[in-house]
Amino acid sequence: MMDLTYRPRRLRRTPALRSMVQENILGASDFIYPLFVHEGSEIEPIGAMPGSYRWHLDGLIKEVERAWDLGIRCVVIFPKVAESLKSEDGSECFNEDGLIPRAIRCLKKEVPDMTIMTDVALDPYSSDGHDGIVSSEGIVLNDETIDQLCRQAVVQAQSGADLIGPSDMMDGRVGAIREALDDQGYEHVGIISYTAKYASAYYGPFREALDSAPRLEGGKPIPTDKSTYQMDPGNAREAVTEAQLDEQEGADILMVKPGLAYLDIIYRLREETELPIAAYNVSGEYAMVKSAAEKGWIDEKAIVLETLLSFKRAGADLILTYHACDAAKWLKKG
Ligand code: PBG
Repeated sequence: MMDLTYRPRRLRRTPALRSMVQENILGASDFIYPLFVHEGSEIEPIGAMPGSYRWHLDGLIKEVERAWDLGIRCVVIFPKVAESLKSEDGSECFNEDGLIPRAIRCLKKEVPDMTIMTDVALDPYSSDGHDGIVSSEGIVLNDETIDQLCRQAVVQAQSGADLIGPSDMMDGRVGAIREALDDQGYEHVGIISYTAKYASAYYGPFREALDSAPRLEGGKPIPTDKSTYQMDPGNAREAVTEAQLDEQEGADILMVKPGLAYLDIIYRLREETELPIAAYNVSGEYAMVKSAAEKGWIDEKAIVLETLLSFKRAGADLILTYHACDAAKWLKKG
């Protein structure tokens, strides 16, 4: 026999021992469930996101009730806005009778205990498909965009949102939104900031779901990607700077997006801040798992639970994931 003092396998010997020493555990209340909503009367499947739908309001309520019953405690809603309501300055984003304010009011009435998170950015409302206003020279304008975002955030808070999620990556937006919310008496409404949001190809299926990709039609030189405001995938230290700024400006929760290719960023921010951290397991990550699972090439349940656990291990407290309901179901059954 070998003369070994340490035999780490001793604690892996039985399921009971393994469960006693497991360092990170997944639970349904770790999940934030992203949902799409549209004006149509149909529940529309989304091509590259099997199992995700564009819901009408009734369908949305039922899906959120189902999520609640599975133990999920937060949803985030994204609108597919009618083409006729899109404009260069995205003003539909602060229409009190717009799709998102109506959806929030319905959800607050029907499923009052569920935490409602929103997305703040212009892209679903922009005829140019950008998160901010694009100037005639093709520049995404920072400060002018922030005025729109503050109005959007206030209308969302007024409709009953619990957590406001700026996903636009304009400089200074967290502080400006915090001030706008406080001025209007919404000091109790939190900000979950998309702090380190990278200019990523992993958002492709989401942009299909909302038809919100940058567009080239029209006379303006529209930038074809979002790299003048979203972060460069080559940068890690810059994420720490973004985190420090968001924290100083009053963010309550910091988010890293995408998640899987950026686990190192989650880990870095975990070392830098005491605030809760969220990871966004984005549409492209979801599509890859779903397509391989459909072909029978991977075990979907095992892959999803392992992936979600990796976000916790990296240091995330919360995970935005389209797998939320499936994962909650699997966790329940054991
Ligand atoms: C909009 C927004 C995007 C996502 C969330 N909010 C797309 C983008 O920035 O282009 C992506 C989410 C996903 O891919 O699941 N600002």
